[in-house]
Amino acid sequence: MKGVILAGGKGTRMLPLTKVTNKHLLPIYSEPMIYYPIKTLAAAGINDILIIVGGESIGDFLRLLGSGREFGVNLTYRCQEGAEGIPVALALAREFADGDKLMVVLGDNVMDEGLKEEAARFEAGSSGCHVFLKEVHDPQRYGVVELRDGRVVAIQEKPVHPPSNLCVTGVYMFDSSVFDVIHGLKPSQRGEVEVVDVVSHYLKAGRLSWSLLKGYWTDAGTLEAWFEANSIVRENRQKAKPS
Ligand code: G1P
Repeated sequence: MKGVILAGGKGTRMLPLTKVTNKHLLPIYSEPMIYYPIKTLAAAGINDILIIVGGESIGDFLRLLGSGREFGVNLTYRCQEGAEGIPVALALAREFADGDKLMVVLGDNVMDEGLKEEAARFEAGSSGCHVFLKEVHDPQRYGVVELRDGRVVAIQEKPVHPPSNLCVTGVYMFDSSVFDVIHGLKPSQRGEVEVVDVVSHYLKAGRLSWSLLKGYWTDAGTLEAWFEANSIVRENRQKAKPS
């Protein structure tokens, strides 16, 4: 299985911090944000990673991350023009994937959990899509699932009246049919092709599985969540230090 990190977008929710810097280069405590999804993939046993970056900052990513040797992975880069939604960016990974299954991580997702077992299970399994859910106090900000008898029956993006407080985190596993699924999608009312529509496609086809994230997870894409991620990572690192 290969890995893809989506680190494009304009970071408008974090202006002016993102006026001259890509959001994913901002610090989360002692490391740039982009280190976290790289480490998430490396911990899941994934060595071949494509980073999809907004055109203006690709040089900064290269200078920071180079070949990926420091993380024990091989990094490849692709440039994304514009910001038309997560699936449009993911579509740029088709040649890189070359028929393999993918673990996709949104570049602002910070977590401390190893997903090695789930990754191995998905890789060995037949096909489909796997999502990681997390209980949150502000589900309106996310893709949210409706569960019935332990099965996902619906997914909505940023619902005004969320059917649960279980959000779809920005870590997804897809089989190689994801590129054909994306090709068939139309933009939502906000003008973006939505990642929940990709996941819903697999749900309708009966090919969606899910598991709960147990550890710490946040989407650090807003000022408040970014600030919180900084303090939680700091706290966790200090607890982990030998006394
Ligand atoms: C995106 C997805 C959303 C998901 C979230 C997780 O939202 O659209 O479904 O729950 O990432 O990080 P965004 O952060 O782009 O608003």
